[in-house]
Amino acid sequence: MKSYFAPASTGNFSVGFDLLGAAFAPKNGELLGDELVIEGEAAELSLRLSGRYVHQLPGDVTDNLVIKCFYAFEQKVGKTLPRLKLHLKKHLPVGSGLGSSACSIVVACYAFNDYFGKPLSDFELLQLTAVCEGGVSGAVHYDNVAPSLYGGLLLMLPESPLLCRPLPWFPHWQVVLCYPGTVLSTKAAREVMPKELSLKHSIRFANMLSRFVSALYCQDETEAFAALQDLVAEPARLPLIPELTAIRAALTAEGIGHVGISGAGPTLFAVCQNDQQAEFAAAYFRQHYEKNQDAMTHICTLATVGARVLLE
Ligand code: HSE
Repeated sequence: MKSYFAPASTGNFSVGFDLLGAAFAPKNGELLGDELVIEGEAAELSLRLSGRYVHQLPGDVTDNLVIKCFYAFEQKVGKTLPRLKLHLKKHLPVGSGLGSSACSIVVACYAFNDYFGKPLSDFELLQLTAVCEGGVSGAVHYDNVAPSLYGGLLLMLPESPLLCRPLPWFPHWQVVLCYPGTVLSTKAAREVMPKELSLKHSIRFANMLSRFVSALYCQDETEAFAALQDLVAEPARLPLIPELTAIRAALTAEGIGHVGISGAGPTLFAVCQNDQQAEFAAAYFRQHYEKNQDAMTHICTLATVGARVLLE
């Protein structure tokens, strides 16, 4: 038996639509991400499901991403592979903005590659996860799969053979992630996006992203917070998450530097500079969404390690 884990991720990080992504881990040591156990080989491929959010998964196991990833992995490797007895522990909510589908895809592809003796290079593995994720969200984008696979805050480079590169971070930053408990599919949240941006808008977007990246390299926190603006997705998605405006006002009034939409939402994230801000944001989020049983809030730090073996 061998068990694998991949962390949750925040696509876009507000300022980099489809181009920035970060993996996060709760400060209290809990695992926020999906776990896949390879229980052994068997005559037929099988998948058992458990975990807090198992009720949000399709009833028919053959529709599960882990099974789809097995066949996609087999096709990419180009030979028939032994069938496996699998167990997915679904700890991330589906359609949450926490990179839930990417997380299942990454943990599955990483696990298969490790189990079968690494037939795919890191590059091929990342490509495979992005193609599988594209099948779910309707477009190939790396900003969830890459951080879930590698950890850290990453800049996507889809037109470079590198595909992505790690960025610096502010080591004292804490990110409070709050999933409100409602489902919003990435596909639906992409459908509301504008099909084109004006020249003026494109230049502002490029400027904010480059301003943020430059602030990270210079470790200029004031500039980083000033640049954390979502000029592309948020204007289109705000009607899907209207409470963001009031929550942002309440948290920024406490000195919290940024509140944004994690990935395609509805999860929100608050970037905090100390324990006091993080505790305040977490308490505020919990109180706001306490009525929803599926809601969850975590105070996180950057997960510097991505997909990995949990148990040999
Ligand atoms: N960049 C993607 C989007 C992330 O915002 O649609 C999806 O989690």
